[in-house]
Amino acid sequence: MVENLTHKSYSLNLKTKIIGKKIIHFNKIPSTNLYAKKLIDENIDNGTIVIADVQTKGRGRKNRSWISPHGGLWFSVILYPDISPKRGMVITMAASISVTQAIRDIAGLKTEIKWPNDVLLKNKKVCGILTEFNAELNKIKYAIVGIGINVNNKIDGELEDIAISLKQEIGSEVSREKLFGLILENFDNNYYKLKNNDFEHIKKIWLTYSNIIGKKVRIIEEKNMIEGIVKDIYDDGSLIIKTNSGINNVLNGDMTIV
Ligand code: BTN
Repeated sequence: MVENLTHKSYSLNLKTKIIGKKIIHFNKIPSTNLYAKKLIDENIDNGTIVIADVQTKGRGRKNRSWISPHGGLWFSVILYPDISPKRGMVITMAASISVTQAIRDIAGLKTEIKWPNDVLLKNKKVCGILTEFNAELNKIKYAIVGIGINVNNKIDGELEDIAISLKQEIGSEVSREKLFGLILENFDNNYYKLKNNDFEHIKKIWLTYSNIIGKKVRIIEEKNMIEGIVKDIYDDGSLIIKTNSGINNVLNGDMTIV
């Protein structure tokens, strides 16, 4: 269905080793994550980016849709990480700290990370990340890291209560190109650390941006609900939570601080 869409390929002069050497740009596409999957089937290079100005069927976590009009940054990073599936979530953590670092540097805004991978500004969502994996028993074959950032786009209707754009906060446009370039450079650097098993590096930065240790949280995953105090984050990205019945590890779910 997406085969006939027009696109152009280019490379930016980025200071990266892997990520962003090839960039495939669409004016309009159903979903960059979906197109990335098609490219993986054609053996596209590690680190290739699919980016679109508009997505007509943007996808969010848990099969939710992701509204992606003009003015936002909607892109997917294709990776062949060759690491244990247990480390999958750390890739998303590396992406979320890369986005947070870049927004702080380019827009001067103090964004925060909400576990597992939302980037918030004044408690509203400015960025969401959807990582889709394919894994064998011992290694992740590929990861598609889909990143959606509300940069200059308008947030409409019922989303106003839960989402915010950078432009809304600053009052003027933010350069999507500069932000995009810096995110890719940060991600390349953080991904390199991850590949070298330097989880501590990712964790340390993630914790400074997330401010979650010691907080009382409620996490809902499917039909299960868990409530307790966050003690730490484990090296697979799961939260270590002290509940009334003991210590629990939680890898997934929707979290609220209570
Ligand atoms: C979330 O639910 O928070 C994750 C949202 C991820 C949206 C991005 S936009 C680029 C990429 N393509 C998609 O279809 N989704 C991701």
